[in-house]
Amino acid sequence: MLYKKEYSAATQSPQAFWLEKAKAIDWFKTPPSAFNNISGGTVEWFKGGTLNTSYLALDHHVQSGKGDKTALIYESPVTQSTVSFTYSELLGEVSTFAGALSRLGVTKGDRVIIYMPMIPQAAIAMLACARIGAIHSVVFGGFAANELAVRIDDATPKIIVTASCGIEGKKVLPYKPLVDEAINLATHKPQGCILVQREQLKARLETGYDHDWHYLMSSSSPVEAVELDATHPLYVLYTSGTTGKPKGVVRDNGGHAVALNYSLDAIYGISEEDVFWAASDVGWVVGHSYIVYGPLIKGATTVMYEGKPVGTPDAGAFWRVVQKHKVNVLFAAPTAFRAIRKEDPNALLLSEYDISSLRTLFMAGERLDPSTYYWVSEKVGVPVIDHWWQTETGWPICSNPMGIQPLQTKPGSSSVPTPGFNVQVLKSNGEQQDVGKKGAIAIKLPLPPGCLQSIWQDNDRFIQGYLTEYEGYYSTGDDGFIDNDGFVFIMGRTDDVINVAGHRLSTGEMEEVLASHPAIAECSVIGVNDTLKGQLPIGLVLLKDGVDIDETQLESELVSLVRETIGPVASFKRAIVVNRLPKTRSGKILRKLIRQVAANEDITVPSTIDDPASVAEIQQVMMQKGLVTKAEPQ
Ligand code: COA
Ligand code: AMP
Repeated sequence: MLYKKEYSAATQSPQAFWLEKAKAIDWFKTPPSAFNNISGGTVEWFKGGTLNTSYLALDHHVQSGKGDKTALIYESPVTQSTVSFTYSELLGEVSTFAGALSRLGVTKGDRVIIYMPMIPQAAIAMLACARIGAIHSVVFGGFAANELAVRIDDATPKIIVTASCGIEGKKVLPYKPLVDEAINLATHKPQGCILVQREQLKARLETGYDHDWHYLMSSSSPVEAVELDATHPLYVLYTSGTTGKPKGVVRDNGGHAVALNYSLDAIYGISEEDVFWAASDVGWVVGHSYIVYGPLIKGATTVMYEGKPVGTPDAGAFWRVVQKHKVNVLFAAPTAFRAIRKEDPNALLLSEYDISSLRTLFMAGERLDPSTYYWVSEKVGVPVIDHWWQTETGWPICSNPMGIQPLQTKPGSSSVPTPGFNVQVLKSNGEQQDVGKKGAIAIKLPLPPGCLQSIWQDNDRFIQGYLTEYEGYYSTGDDGFIDNDGFVFIMGRTDDVINVAGHRLSTGEMEEVLASHPAIAECSVIGVNDTLKGQLPIGLVLLKDGVDIDETQLESELVSLVRETIGPVASFKRAIVVNRLPKTRSGKILRKLIRQVAANEDITVPSTIDDPASVAEIQQVMMQKGLVTKAEPQ
């Protein structure tokens, strides 16, 4: 079995395995070894090697005579435009923007925040930062000013790169006022802002502080890629944790390049001739790894899509793009296909397009529920692969290894561990769980290359949050089981993270926002199942004594508060007033228990509960509101 051989080579001799895989990369200086231990099971990858990720993604291909090959296709139904860049053209744009950043004083190690819609300049800005060793931090456009401000204060960027507006379906959303507000809210003040003026809505620029992208480009000169240590950070990407403070996942250059390049071969089976389309957003890890860096490092063609699966203009959008650009491999979130199925249950629009170029369809971001799996498999007629990963890992932990050896598909499972990831299911005491039984999913250290190196400016949080719960393991925060054939089934998060339409959000953060409302004494936010978005957050709120407020009015105030503080992407639409919340005798809200009620799971009421009747009450309220249909405490 090719897969088994590859997997055991990666597990048994990781030094030799990864040093071999690193040979596929055009290093400036070849690393002497794959990894060396730092502490507590964490490792540094390819120390002593030097490279530049922008060079790998662009110069390397141009120098190999592939300058005329299409690197990036920008497909934008919302502006009705399509623009392609060859590798030479993209290199020209990136090296000039790198020159512009340098002119503004950005140097190696400086941070640059990129808050942009899905336009090519977002990818250009990322690659330009990589070119000069600046560390980019891309912030998803659906976050509100406050979220951007939190990231500005944590990353302390020298420059912010943005655009005058984003376009969401038919809505034109001004970005500039939001960026201004964020800078206003933040303690750290960036030195300037570079803005792409879009025709749909121009922004007013402040002389001396704001710089027009196009003007800056026309007056800047290209610069070469600088030589960087393999361990130098490439980017910081914030992701939701259990509190209001997001975690800045730090990714290195060397491990990242080797891992992504390997994943395109081993998992996605991508060659240089292929067109790869990850229908995600540059604000998420999928966008970093598989819209920008991965396909370009590989020398393939990547599609950057500014649109939705439905409504831009219809539920045939995915099929249209596949046909138009002869996409070979598509990567999207299950929620996107649930949206398509809802509008076009019989996939009638699919018959209008020729999607014969499509070889494989990968899904991630949330569990691929069997019903969506069967629908997509039947309609599309190509292998549909569920694969599991996280912002922290940067590439898939489990997948059907299509480039090594396609395995059978088991609906509900994200297949087998990727070579390099030693995936184990543990009991709460840290012992190995029995085959087929549910437990915490952990990865035995060391993690393979490409995974997070730390949390930006907070190594303690990295150690505490990921490496201390089970000694010698990285805790994924997911639970699930492994079956007799070694197939991994991910069942859900064990913490306060939920997944809404493929977007990772923190319920803890939403609770902090609700608690800031003057009428609220206590609250709990949990994710409830949703047939379209997978999960949706709902707030259970307890009013302060003596507060008399109309419930509908309160709900609308809370919805606005979350929208203004976190952003529309939170999709927070429901807040329910309850008389009490289940708590321990020491006063801690039993969130896990509430989550179980909402998920219709069998419940074991813990002996530490203060008021057992509160569980039935919560259940009743949720049932009345149509949020829970069954579940009885035992
Ligand atoms: N900038 C500004 N606002 C944004 C945004 C962005 N980049 N992305 C989303 N929003 C807004 C939306 O406009 C919407 O606002 P509204 O409440 O005013 O309507 C809100 O955030 C929620 O957005 P979303 O969750 O995307 O819902 P939707 O109804 O617009 O679309 C789906 C539903 C399923 C079609 C869409 O969520 C989708 O395509 N999801 C796939 C996500 C994905 O690719 N994830 C990456 C993992 S691979
Ligand atoms: P993110 O960091 O945004 O990629 O979200 C990571 C989380 O999304 C994981 O910890 C899982 O809870 C969930 N997730 C991602 N992909 C899958 C999958 N294929 N199956 C189940 N859960 C998934």
